[in-house]
Amino acid sequence: MARTNFFSAFLLFFAMATPPSTFSLRCASPASCNSLIDYVSPNATTLSSIQTLFTLPNLSSILAANNLPLSTLPTYPIASKQIIKILFPCICTNGTGISNGLPSYTVIHGDGLYHIAAEVFSGLITVSQIQTANNISNPDLILEGQKLSIPLPCSCDDVDGQKVMHYGHVVPEGSSVEGIAQEFNTSQDTLLRLNNLNSSKELMAGSILDVPLRACSSTIKNNSMDYNLLVPNDTYALTANNCVVCKCDAALQWVLQCVPSGQLKTGAGSCPSVLCEGPGNLSIGNSTSSGCNRTTCSYAGYNNQTILTTLALNSTCPAVGGGGGGESLAVRLRGWRHMLLLFLIFTVSVAYVR
Ligand SMILES: *[C@@H]1O[C@H](CO)[C@@H](O)[C@H](O)[C@H]1NC(C)=O
Ligand SMILES: *[C@@H]1O[C@H](CO)[C@@H](O)[C@H](O)[C@H]1NC(C)=O
Ligand SMILES: *[C@@H]1O[C@H](CO)[C@@H](O)[C@H](O)[C@H]1NC(C)=O
Ligand SMILES: *[C@@H]1O[C@H](CO)[C@@H](O)[C@H](O)[C@H]1NC(C)=O
Ligand SMILES: *[C@@H]1O[C@H](CO)[C@@H](O)[C@H](O)[C@H]1NC(C)=O
Ligand SMILES: *[C@@H]1O[C@H](CO)[C@@H](O)[C@H](O)[C@H]1NC(C)=O
Ligand SMILES: *[C@@H]1O[C@H](CO)[C@@H](O)[C@H](O)[C@H]1NC(C)=O
Ligand SMILES: *[C@@H]1O[C@H](CO)[C@@H](O)[C@H](O)[C@H]1NC(C)=O
Ligand SMILES: *[C@@H]1O[C@H](CO)[C@@H](O)[C@H](O)[C@H]1NC(C)=O
Ligand SMILES: *[C@@H]1O[C@H](CO)[C@@H](O)[C@H](O)[C@H]1NC(C)=O
Ligand SMILES: *[C@@H]1O[C@H](CO)[C@@H](O)[C@H](O)[C@H]1NC(C)=O
Ligand SMILES: *[C@@H]1O[C@H](CO)[C@@H](O)[C@H](O)[C@H]1NC(C)=O
Repeated sequence: MARTNFFSAFLLFFAMATPPSTFSLRCASPASCNSLIDYVSPNATTLSSIQTLFTLPNLSSILAANNLPLSTLPTYPIASKQIIKILFPCICTNGTGISNGLPSYTVIHGDGLYHIAAEVFSGLITVSQIQTANNISNPDLILEGQKLSIPLPCSCDDVDGQKVMHYGHVVPEGSSVEGIAQEFNTSQDTLLRLNNLNSSKELMAGSILDVPLRACSSTIKNNSMDYNLLVPNDTYALTANNCVVCKCDAALQWVLQCVPSGQLKTGAGSCPSVLCEGPGNLSIGNSTSSGCNRTTCSYAGYNNQTILTTLALNSTCPAVGGGGGGESLAVRLRGWRHMLLLFLIFTVSVAYVR
């Protein structure tokens, strides 16, 4: 008994010592989108347990957000304290963004709201936020088997006029606003403004920082069903009914790289054709070169049962002048001068030795 009391006191102290989590995100205009949040698993677990905890319909959304191969098994082990990014639907009403209908948590024997908020969901939500969302006036009164909705914080707001994906990032020990801004290709000012911080000194390890993630640009048409597809650096997304996979790698000029997923569509039917119209029978993601012209077949979205494509020409042909082009001529000249220089050195050396 005494031990329990001591432990409770310790927990209370610990709860007061940790930064006050009143984490909610501003989301000015009514909208829905996808958001990311870090989940720090308290115990060793598996991907499928995390999928179940967050009531995500597809394992592939976790794989995509963490850039794990699509072939990764549900039993893939996750270590204690490992950070897994969760991709979830977000809806904005009344100035704040919350997860749209997920997760739903079923109370088990011995659960308390503090345990659920601070441990099971690793502090992504507070006790009072669970109370508000579920109309619970007495936090000590929850029943085994009761379903609780867990409204995760998120946002759909544009940042600096750009469409971004908002990422609730758990601030690592020893990091700085400057470092985080650099890591995610945003600015210190943006991070401070978005998170209502007056100075970078207010950053606290373990708190959740709203980081706007720049997404790769794409050739998806604005009449496509996935016209608002946002894929941040080092993640991928399945789209067009899982028939196309699009990857974002900042190192490739922030241009979205889409290829056929090679997966059978779930349900009836297989994936429709993904060939570009025109010469070459190019498939999405393929290109062909003819001299200095490079033609690429790109994904342009989908509608109903059709996958849209677009052929793009990237010409590195010299603007004026014929032949092999000015640049390669210069390279050849440089090479020639190089040979001449070597020859001179050789001649001089031979003369010197003599
Ligand atoms: C999950 O998969 C189902 C069936 O394949 C699909 O209808 C749904 O859009 C997917 N949801 C997400 C979030 O990817
Ligand atoms: C919207 O927010 C206002 C003030 O924050 C609050 O009074 C009102 O009840 C909220 N409405 C809904 C539907 O949550
Ligand atoms: C972590 O594991 C310990 C011991 O197995 C258990 O008591 C605790 O409830 C677990 N925590 C969570 C959040 O599952
Ligand atoms: C919330 O609970 C109170 C009683 O605890 C009840 O009177 C009220 O109608 C409930 N509100 C909603 C929206 O369920
Ligand atoms: C993109 O992701 C890679 C892999 O995590 C990382 O090394 C790189 O710094 C990131 N670039 C930007 C601009 O975010
Ligand atoms: C984002 O990265 C690009 C290079 O990929 C760089 O030119 C730009 O300055 C970066 N923006 C910010 C705000 O760091
Ligand atoms: C930030 O600055 C504003 C106005 O200067 C002040 O009201 C607020 O208390 C400050 N916030 C913190 C956390 O210091
Ligand atoms: C959609 O794109 C077309 C050009 O491809 C443009 O003319 C049109 O204004 C765009 N519509 C919207 C709503 O952005
Ligand atoms: C063209 O795309 C198909 C399907 O993605 C792929 O199997 C093939 O290797 C690609 N061909 C070239 C030349 O890249
Ligand atoms: C490259 O493309 C341009 C424009 O389509 C065309 O005029 C030119 O003949 C092409 N050059 C080669 C080498 O294919
Ligand atoms: C989608 O299909 C419906 C009926 O099958 C059709 O009325 C509609 O025009 C189609 N939309 C597009 C963009 O093809
Ligand atoms: C065109 O090709 C060059 C060289 O391969 C590349 O550096 C450039 O980014 C490409 N431009 C576009 C718009 O894809």
